[in-house]
Amino acid sequence: MSSKIRKVVFPVAGLGSRFLPATKSIPKEMLPIVDRPLIDYAVEEARKAGIEHFIFITGRGKGAIEDYFDHAFELETTLSERSKSEALAALSTTQLRHGAASFVRQQQPLGLGHAIWCARDIIGDEPFAVILPDEVVRHERGCLAQMVDAWGDKGGNIVAVAEVPDDQTHQYGIVSPGDDDGRIAEVKGLIEKPSPGTAPSNLAMTGRYILSPEVFGKLKKGSLGAGGEIQLTDAMAETIGDVPFHAVRFDGERFDCGDKAGYLAANLAYGLAREDIGPRLLELMPGIINTLER
Ligand code: UTP
Repeated sequence: MSSKIRKVVFPVAGLGSRFLPATKSIPKEMLPIVDRPLIDYAVEEARKAGIEHFIFITGRGKGAIEDYFDHAFELETTLSERSKSEALAALSTTQLRHGAASFVRQQQPLGLGHAIWCARDIIGDEPFAVILPDEVVRHERGCLAQMVDAWGDKGGNIVAVAEVPDDQTHQYGIVSPGDDDGRIAEVKGLIEKPSPGTAPSNLAMTGRYILSPEVFGKLKKGSLGAGGEIQLTDAMAETIGDVPFHAVRFDGERFDCGDKAGYLAANLAYGLAREDIGPRLLELMPGIINTLER
């Protein structure tokens, strides 16, 4: 078994129906926060965690993601001829080491669990990470790097969790905790979107996982869970007892960019923090708020 987390899976084959009509022709993962698409932030986080191979689970209409991480010969030559060095430098995050990216087609959007199962041949028999690009975590080291530290200590499966208010637990996969040191909690059970008032804790899973390859055996059974999709949560829950399983509370600010308000909040937070546009954005804000109050 590998002693390092070398590979990450980005499931990007979802329909993005909450962002229609924009997502009719643009993948949700290509929506920008300021000037970089969501998927770019996810790749950056994976790099910071020491990931070497990036696996994208794509579907119909997701070709823009593949193009984004390719060399754009004409664009680069034109920018270079025009001495646009700043614009050229902005492309640096889009360049992956040759051979370090794989694109796997999920022929039908059968859910997150199925999307991850589609990566089984490329992952093989080693632990791997999963990042959902529509969950963005703002932190200098990154959320996944913190999880890799915890994995170095505990091994097995690791999920990132955040505490959510009681009236929101029904929207998330919730952890039933065992021993808990205030940062890392042992996972005794997992429940996807519990009915209001029945959640075993407030610890909600937030789109980052380190998984032991045993999970593929559980996903293989292809059982359909809530919503008629192959549920990752159910497959992970089945590994409890077979492999160590822990939840990590991470440092950093989390934005649910699969949701319109969360996405706009991320744009504001990242925009306000930028030296080049933050001050101007701050100047514009009172005007926007005044129009609302009128
Ligand atoms: P979401 O639940 O956010 O679904 O999926 P979605 O299709 O992206 O968006 P909505 O709900 O229709 O607006 C969580 C993650 O799992 C991926 C999505 O691309 C997203 O990153 N996913 C989901 C797949 O790759 N395949 C699927 O079949 C379902």
